[in-house]
Amino acid sequence: MRLLVTGGAGYIGSVVAAVLLAEGHEVTVLDDLSTGHRDAVPAGARLVVADVHDAAEVLDPSVEAVLHFAGKSLVGESVEEPGAYWRTNVGGTLALAEAAVRHGVRRLVFSSSAATYGEPASGAPLRETDPAVPTNPYGATKLAADHLLASWARAHGLGAVSLRYFNVAGAHLGFGERHTTETHLVPNLLKAAAGNGERARVFGTDYPTRDGTAVRDYLHVADLADAHVRALKAVEPEVHRVYNLGTGGGHTVREVIDAVRRVTGREVPADDRPRRDGDPAVLVASNDRAREELGWGPVRTLDRIVADAWGFADG
Ligand code: UFG
Repeated sequence: MRLLVTGGAGYIGSVVAAVLLAEGHEVTVLDDLSTGHRDAVPAGARLVVADVHDAAEVLDPSVEAVLHFAGKSLVGESVEEPGAYWRTNVGGTLALAEAAVRHGVRRLVFSSSAATYGEPASGAPLRETDPAVPTNPYGATKLAADHLLASWARAHGLGAVSLRYFNVAGAHLGFGERHTTETHLVPNLLKAAAGNGERARVFGTDYPTRDGTAVRDYLHVADLADAHVRALKAVEPEVHRVYNLGTGGGHTVREVIDAVRRVTGREVPADDRPRRDGDPAVLVASNDRAREELGWGPVRTLDRIVADAWGFADG
């Protein structure tokens, strides 16, 4: 297929673009390089450096589907600068949906987030039918974009799939996480393990969990990419579907530290810190719907996530 990948110079966009190229698709990347990297665009993809608001100028009727990764994704920053989040994550998705309809592009796969659910009522695996009550502007903008796509499906026949990612980590095909501001646990633990004098921080040791630290559902980026390939095949005009993407299980922060020690053979100097604002105790996905409707299932373990991320960080 001829595909447009917005945000294809970012972490997840670059991995998925590489997988799509390997599957034989023709890929154009649209990225403004505000947080992405030119050299993260896989060889074989065409790069157009532009804002997602200008998608109309890049799309044309020969494009068969859009994979929409472009967006801002830092929870803390979204609290400080909500305007940037509403503009890019909602305004950008609006511009893209309108451009898609104008050019007769009827298939779109969107990077949504577990942040749409907010603070879960219990530690039980989250289903797509659970209440979505975001607790920060990042989650609110992802939820608004999900709703926008649902209305475009109904009114304009756009087929769309919202993939709600839980905690994505790891590297694949030579592409991985290279954020300038790194907030995520796995890359921060690897920096500490690298022994450059950096110490990791454990945010919150008094959660009602098995060891007091927060539980998250860590998903290998290659398994995530596989879900996109399946979503692309499943997306059908006029229908909007939502899928949670996670393993259905979770690990505490201390368990992830243990995995980093085990896999790298290094010490992970770490200090206990207070909870980070707005971090729920447990966030785990139910992936039943993705299993049933997309035939998807993650196969890579936490140790594999850490090993691949470590290999990538090592260059
Ligand atoms: N954590 C630490 N130390 C760190 C970084 C994180 O202890 O240096 C903890 C966090 O408090 C949390 C867990 O490790 O309990 C995972 O934190 P991340 O920052 O890696 O990921 P989040 O769960 O906060 O964020 C993920 C996605 C977001 C999404 C959010 C939904 O990365 O995009 O889930 O709540 F918004």
